[in-house]
Amino acid sequence: MKTLIIYWSKTGFVKKYAEWLAEELKADIIPGKEVTKAKLKEYDSYIFGGSLYAVGINGADFIKKNIKELEGKKTAVFATGASSATEEVIEEVKNKNFTEEEQSYFKFFYLRGGFDYSKLGFKDKVLMGIMKWKLNSKKKKGEELTEEEKGLLAAYEKPVDFTDKENIKEIVEYFK
Ligand SMILES: Cc1cc2nc3c(=O)[nH]c(=O)nc-3n(C[C@H](O)[C@H](O)[C@H](O)COP(=O)(O)O)c2cc1C
Repeated sequence: MKTLIIYWSKTGFVKKYAEWLAEELKADIIPGKEVTKAKLKEYDSYIFGGSLYAVGINGADFIKKNIKELEGKKTAVFATGASSATEEVIEEVKNKNFTEEEQSYFKFFYLRGGFDYSKLGFKDKVLMGIMKWKLNSKKKKGEELTEEEKGLLAAYEKPVDFTDKENIKEIVEYFK
């Protein structure tokens, strides 16, 4: 089985998972911005990985556009976000990004990433600046922040990294 790993990563978390998977499965790896339909045709199985930006998966458009190429090919799609991997988060992400029919072409996974404000581009810095402002005003009003929100606020000062090689096990098992 010849597997291609295609990843979309802005600050390196998805890239790290993609590289671990490539190493473990002896698969080829390519950044999403370089992949073409012709390249896909050279392989008989795929792993697509993309990070979460307001619940949208980076790279989901490419997967949707080429969904028929996955017919009969073993495929996994994983999303990486800063949130912890609860069943609810995973279902929401999967269902907001893909229709039921699209979901029938692959198995979906969630691998927790991290957050590194310093590496964000200008637009994402602005968006996350608004989020920080919202969280701080909630705090000022005396409202209790969730553990997740507290973690996010702290991450503006110091990057957080929840990536763990153990997390790829489920996908590795699926392909072996
Ligand atoms: C503007 C913006 C929106 C985000 N939205 C989400 C989100 O909805 N859910 C989540 O879990 N993480 C969210 N994140 C966090 C990223 O998904 C997380 O940092 C991820 O690990 C980035 O991976 P990458 O460096 O490979 O792109 C967001 C980050 C930014 C900058």
